[in-house]
Amino acid sequence: MQKKNKISLKNYNSFGVDVISSNFNIANSEQEIIDFIKKNNIDEPIILGGGTNILFKNNIDRNILKIQIKGIELINETEDYVIVSVGAGEVWNDFVNWTINNDYGGLENLTLIPGNVGSAPIQNIGAYGAELKDTFENCRAISVETGLLRIFNNTECKFSYRSSIFKEKLRNKYIISNVTFKLSKKNHQINFSYKPLEEIIKNNHIFNPTIKDISESVNKIRSSKLPDPKLIGNCGSFFKNPIIDKIDYKKLCEKEKNVPFYKTSENKIKIPAAWLIEKCGYKGIRDGNTGTHDKHALIIVNYGNASGYEIFEFSQKIKNDVLRKFNILLEEEVNIIDK
Ligand code: EPU
Repeated sequence: MQKKNKISLKNYNSFGVDVISSNFNIANSEQEIIDFIKKNNIDEPIILGGGTNILFKNNIDRNILKIQIKGIELINETEDYVIVSVGAGEVWNDFVNWTINNDYGGLENLTLIPGNVGSAPIQNIGAYGAELKDTFENCRAISVETGLLRIFNNTECKFSYRSSIFKEKLRNKYIISNVTFKLSKKNHQINFSYKPLEEIIKNNHIFNPTIKDISESVNKIRSSKLPDPKLIGNCGSFFKNPIIDKIDYKKLCEKEKNVPFYKTSENKIKIPAAWLIEKCGYKGIRDGNTGTHDKHALIIVNYGNASGYEIFEFSQKIKNDVLRKFNILLEEEVNIIDK
């Protein structure tokens, strides 16, 4: 276990917010996590992965535990599929690239999603018609209260849109140390039904796309409209896309033209939060050191020196305006840490 007192978290969060942590710990193995919990069991730590979905509002006195467990291991194989076990501290996109290079299918649509492998199940990461839950076998996780290890299978994780048991009932109760995936070796299920992906595949005259084609296309789409956190601080989508009742959707359509939507069930409709935010006049606007991205209204950016508090205040302005105009309450996708 590495321990640091008083360090800046600027390089540990993709918003690039410069706050100070007075108790920063790095775990390189499962055993180090267990030992840490047994020693510090009164104080619930803040668990840090890649720091790509977190907003620190203030300096942090609480223990921070950064999970840096590495390793990609093939643990089982048949003619049709492989089972791969991955350390929580692996960078998600490095792992996706590894699967593409080995021609293992299932994660290609999730190319270039920021963050680490261990955080991926918590919010059931998803993009371009795929979600983590489609390939997830199980994960190993350590109880923050007891230090005991438990294995969660796919059903036990209770995955849903951008959520899982780790965001709901067991929020902050477990630390994921390792994730296992089931990936295809042949007859890959190529999925390019998501409109922008289908367009790019067609425009490039690709008739039978491989997983590599899908991965490269997703890469192009994401790089063209999502800002690179290395160049400009951000955490991707700041809010979730709200899911509303069909009746409310109809009412909305009476007031607004061409409301984009995805049907999620018989009576529920998901509306892009980006559209609601753009309609409130927020796309590409700057407010002090923060603002929304000019190519995507759902992404709040740090122009350089924004404090966590400033970004938070700006996000709440957006939230209030959307509520006032559309009577829809946006819910943060990013984890907000007070102190
Ligand atoms: N739109 C606007 N204005 C904008 C941008 C988008 O009106 O500035 C509307 C358009 O109608 C567009 C629709 O929103 O068709 C959807 O936009 P997009 O395809 O970019 O997807 P999204 O719903 O905003 C979700 C995820 C992204 C993921 C993309 C692609 C959430 C909260 N976000 O965004 O995930 O990359 O789909 O699948 O579900 C993230 O979680 O950090 C993230 C970036």
